[in-house]
Amino acid sequence: MSREPRIALYPGSFDPLTNGHVDIIERGARLFDRIIVAILVNRDKTPLFTAAERVEIAREVFAHDPNVEIDTFGGLLVEYAQRREASVIVRGLRAVSDFEYEMQMALMNRHLSPDLETVFMMPGEAYTYLSSRLVKEVFALGGSVAGLVPPAVERRLLVKR
Ligand code: PNS
Repeated sequence: MSREPRIALYPGSFDPLTNGHVDIIERGARLFDRIIVAILVNRDKTPLFTAAERVEIAREVFAHDPNVEIDTFGGLLVEYAQRREASVIVRGLRAVSDFEYEMQMALMNRHLSPDLETVFMMPGEAYTYLSSRLVKEVFALGGSVAGLVPPAVERRLLVKR
């Protein structure tokens, strides 16, 4: 019996993509027929990487993975999900501190689109305390981000420095 391919969206800012994001995307790619990494454009007026750079980085990191697609979106996530025929939103949950924000978003998205399901996944424990915000801070203060981000990000950060 054939069924519709199950398409998941993994939305976020990804400024920059961290090894925690990569871990979640790899887990999602094993669970779903396709996972679309949906990079939000135009929220932060002074991002570290432009949306085009973030797309380029993610495409480089997942070049070997045919069921990972990289795209950008603006506006409401639920509308983008409908356009892309996605039935699942994937979000990573690191610690209890993520929970309240994530629950608010999941319930708001459910209110807007009742059939769109949010699925939470836990990254490997090495990434529990990793965030794009901290990576940017460590980098800005001259610290090493080796092992925290994919080499494609590290290389571009070193160029910016
Ligand atoms: O990586 P982030 O910044 O935590 O990701 C947040 C994101 C992009 C998932 C969220 O801000 C979002 O979905 N924005 C799109 C606008 C929207 O749909 N807002 C209402 C849903 S709560």
